Amino acid sequence: MIKHDIVIIGAGLAGMRAALEACENHDVAIVTKIYPTRSHSGAAQGGVAAALANLAEDDSPDFHMFDTVKGSDFLGDQDAIEIMVNDAPHVIREMEHFGCVFSRDEKGRIAQRAFGGHSKPRSCYAADRTGHALLHSLYEQILKVSKKLTIYSEYYLRDLVINDFTCNGAIIQDIKTGKIEVLNSKAVLMATGGYGRAFQITSNAFACSGDGLIAAMNNGVPLMDMEFVQFHPTGLYGQGILVSEAARGEGGYLVNGKGERFMETYASKMMELAPRDIVSRSEQTEINEGRGIDGKDFVHLDMRHLGREKILEKLPQVRQLGIDFIGVDMIDAPIPIQPTAHYSMGGIPCDVHGQVIRDKDSSPVRGLFAAGECACVSVHGANRLGTNSLLEAVVFGKRAGASLNEFALNTNRVEISDENHALERTNKLTKELREMNGKESINVVRNEMKNSMTNDCGVYRNPEKMGRCLNKIKDLQKRFKDCSLGDKGSLFNTDFFEAIELKNMLDFSEIILVGAIERKESRGGHARTDYEKRDDVNWLKHTLATKSADGEIKLDYKPVSITKHQPEERKY
Ligand code: FUM
Repeated sequence: MIKHDIVIIGAGLAGMRAALEACENHDVAIVTKIYPTRSHSGAAQGGVAAALANLAEDDSPDFHMFDTVKGSDFLGDQDAIEIMVNDAPHVIREMEHFGCVFSRDEKGRIAQRAFGGHSKPRSCYAADRTGHALLHSLYEQILKVSKKLTIYSEYYLRDLVINDFTCNGAIIQDIKTGKIEVLNSKAVLMATGGYGRAFQITSNAFACSGDGLIAAMNNGVPLMDMEFVQFHPTGLYGQGILVSEAARGEGGYLVNGKGERFMETYASKMMELAPRDIVSRSEQTEINEGRGIDGKDFVHLDMRHLGREKILEKLPQVRQLGIDFIGVDMIDAPIPIQPTAHYSMGGIPCDVHGQVIRDKDSSPVRGLFAAGECACVSVHGANRLGTNSLLEAVVFGKRAGASLNEFALNTNRVEISDENHALERTNKLTKELREMNGKESINVVRNEMKNSMTNDCGVYRNPEKMGRCLNKIKDLQKRFKDCSLGDKGSLFNTDFFEAIELKNMLDFSEIILVGAIERKESRGGHARTDYEKRDDVNWLKHTLATKSADGEIKLDYKPVSITKHQPEERKY
């Protein structure tokens, strides 16, 4: 058993920001299944929101708050949103002072650009590599304090140690050697990222398999609002790789097979810069009604009118992605794009201090905290605005770090008295996986899951498709047990970890579907063709899903925090 004061699972922006805050007074460990600078935070391209008012002098956190609440389709918790937008200017300047290489305007200030659903241009950016720039700056700060930290790099989270709703550790496994370690700590922070990898067309990295969510759920923690998955309007066709919204922020057009800028029909004011749920639905409608390019299942993002110089300066990465992955140079030709699973609005429920909660009365799980995409605080509600995710990670990562610091100062470590008991579930699953010798293939099961989720639980949902998808997922859960594991060894056994990831993805896919089938309305990223309207009378509430010991999923609901803005019709 290894002892630390604080264990942080995940080394993306939220995890590292929290570590920086907490390591002054405590022995902090960061556990990450991939090297920190490979974290998926680095994939965010177009910017991080803050009402700095550099470009639009009349911008303010109040406007930012309203845009976020409206963007969330009024499901976002307004107390949390208010904190995020008020903290934003400070945390961005702090990141600048940490060395983040933001692009500059003509006066030398942090440059800002327009982004979807924001009424003012408030996205602070580093060309189209903003997440990458933030992640590396933060990692440099982590290196500066590395003597105060232990980084378990390429270690996999296998389980949490939670008894009587008190968390005092985590079970981790060294991917290189297969060795399992029990970490005993005063507190654990979950900063494990999102769950987009269950979809075939996704912008998410391979790592985004929802491991942290399932570890929490297996220990009695509910998952909140899992049915809300964001589809980003511009994934590279057939690949899902992100083409930043910055492309539209800089003036790119969306064009259908008839050569029309079709957003005129759906959001005549904000056009291509309407929020993502609306733009993705508009694209999907064009495709479904036969107005895709050549009648196919994609539309065009046309950047040619911006000119070579602007594209090279502002969008060098997305231009290169187009060339490398589909052989199209946006300087010369429009790029084929389609909606891609991009962001997980749902996650581990927590309060504005990062404290994980376990029911609608906000009862805490002592010693367990969450921040970043795996957390549901909930600032994004039913639909996140672009650039609010990097912001959430740094604002709530920092806040969770402060909470961890205070908690660990005032708490004695609860020893793990029975190590064998703590390891029970991990050892059982390890044995089961090692002994897997059935006729099914992990790769086939994974592909069937991803296709089914993309086709039947995508931009538009209906009961037939969702029901079919749920049956499919349940069938795949059974077939998973009849898979075989090619590699039975311990050293760098990626087959083994991919099998666990698949098991996790099947488990949370079931929860997405159960919540989506039950939510009989359309709101943000959850668009049903049989209930086309938002229903505030019955559904202005968060879903809390738990899984009982016999595998049954139970749903409960939690009120939304509404402080300043009453729900109204969303018009863009
Ligand atoms: O489109 C983008 O650059 C993505 C940014 C985000 O998801 O916040």
